[in-house]
Amino acid sequence: MMSITTDQLRNKFGAFWEKRAHRRVPPAPLIPKDDPTTLFTSSGMQQLLPYLLGQTHPLGKRLYNIQPCLRTQDIEAVGDNRHTTFFEMLGNWSLGDYFKKDQLAWFWEFLTKDLSLPKTKLAVSIFKGDALLPADDESYRVWKQLGIAEPRIFRYDDNWWSRSGMPEQMPSGEPGGPDSEVFYEFTQVKHDRRFGPHCHPNCDCGRFLEIGNSVFMEYKKQADGRFAALPAKNIDFGGGLERMTAALNNDPDMFQTAIFRPIIRAIEAETHQHYDDPRQRANLRIVADHLRAAVSLIQAGVLPTNKEQGYVLRRLLRRSALKMMRLTGRSDYSLSAIYHQIKTAPVVNQPLPDHTVGQIIDQEVDKFRSGLQRGLRIIEKIGRIDGKIAFDLYQNFGFPLEMTEELWQEKGQTIDRKQFQDEFKKHKQLSRTASADKFKGGLADQSEQTVRYHTATHLIHQALFDVLGNDVRQEGSNITGSRLRFDFYSLTKPTQEQIDQVQTIVNAKIKAGLPVNHAIMTKAEALRSGAKSFFREKYPDRVKVYRIGDYSQELCGGPHVTNTRLINRITVYKWEKIGSNLYRLYAR
Ligand code: ALA
Repeated sequence: MMSITTDQLRNKFGAFWEKRAHRRVPPAPLIPKDDPTTLFTSSGMQQLLPYLLGQTHPLGKRLYNIQPCLRTQDIEAVGDNRHTTFFEMLGNWSLGDYFKKDQLAWFWEFLTKDLSLPKTKLAVSIFKGDALLPADDESYRVWKQLGIAEPRIFRYDDNWWSRSGMPEQMPSGEPGGPDSEVFYEFTQVKHDRRFGPHCHPNCDCGRFLEIGNSVFMEYKKQADGRFAALPAKNIDFGGGLERMTAALNNDPDMFQTAIFRPIIRAIEAETHQHYDDPRQRANLRIVADHLRAAVSLIQAGVLPTNKEQGYVLRRLLRRSALKMMRLTGRSDYSLSAIYHQIKTAPVVNQPLPDHTVGQIIDQEVDKFRSGLQRGLRIIEKIGRIDGKIAFDLYQNFGFPLEMTEELWQEKGQTIDRKQFQDEFKKHKQLSRTASADKFKGGLADQSEQTVRYHTATHLIHQALFDVLGNDVRQEGSNITGSRLRFDFYSLTKPTQEQIDQVQTIVNAKIKAGLPVNHAIMTKAEALRSGAKSFFREKYPDRVKVYRIGDYSQELCGGPHVTNTRLINRITVYKWEKIGSNLYRLYAR
């Protein structure tokens, strides 16, 4: 078995694909810029969506990258030996270039030659087919040709990947396809019969670990529920860096990899608990994972708040605080020795200094400490829980609903979420996103209206610049089929008249029927020509620039309308201050 560091693994992966004429795509920000409804970047393909749907990528048809990802839907599973919220995804793509045969052969070569993983410990799975879609016989043949024995090839009907899951869950316009996964088998782990009579790759007992997934992105869901072919047959591959490291260690515990070991050690030192103690192990893992995710979120520009990404950050930090209290039995623990052990891959141009990240964590946890103790005392006294009490705990002591639920789950009680939500509404503090379903991550829809709003954001960006001054910069946007939201930085507070002026300019540009075109150029050329960019994003050497008449030029992946006349009028129906020098406007 090979022992390599995570840096070496990243480098080997990059070198492997470079040798096969792939270009490296810089990682997308953890908080996606133009993706309408999803809170986080949760896979490498997310920033490539327009290209998987048929747009031309400036770097060509063969791409790879290493993408920090956050997936919060598994947050409750964190604590076992392999679930984390934050992870790095190694990815490679073919945009209508090579397909199944090369992809499977290359990934197999990477695993068995470059990483020297023993073939006998690997197993693969393929799509069995269903009523709508055929079985993936081609992948079966490729695996056979590569020398994989029949009993190591498993057919499942859920070997399918899209951002929204299985075919029937996909909305219209969403791309997806069958996939083929590779698993590492930890033969030292005895099958746990609680998970079924026999072990197999999709069994959850922990003997098998999925280390890579080749998705054959060739379909797009249509409005009538059927599947049409995408303009090209694409490969979308993703494999977890932490999981591959665990396989290379031949140790099923991801928290024993070099990524987590220093963090776990720092938690042990602070809490005087030991990872070897099975009663404490899950708590140690949760603190390690959540603080690592929190540091990455703060680096990506998120602050703890009651909304959206900020709420997730708050929940991660408060959950860590609760577990630290469980581990120490005290509330005066310090987290600084722990978060100083966390190294995140920098995905932003100007990562925050470590001490600023530390201050943000400490402030949030300090705010919560006293409330946590008082809240826990109340919970001990009351024998039952309902939505109203859960809301009081949230409002008075800052207990996120999901955390209260967990406390009560141990006692076999559940909370009426509807009652909690009703209380929330009553108190007019409903944050649109504090409900559980936001944690599942959403979908970017590619509807015509969303595309229109997307082009409108470019016009708004330029108009704000014209009206407020050239210190204006975009901080993010969020576009759905029913409205657009645009966040921006400005040194001066806009007046209502100025916002009205922005609206007037944008509508004049819409009416003027300006053509929308794009060109591919080097990053230097693009920036020299004055094209606007998003400062939080790292761009590749070749970029796509969208021009709207002579009015706006912006680095962007698309898609956009072809002429501004297709947008129709927009109205800014609300705008507000959301932070120091930060403003948000809504238009529809
Ligand atoms: N997009 C695929 C995944 O996230 C590779 O698993």
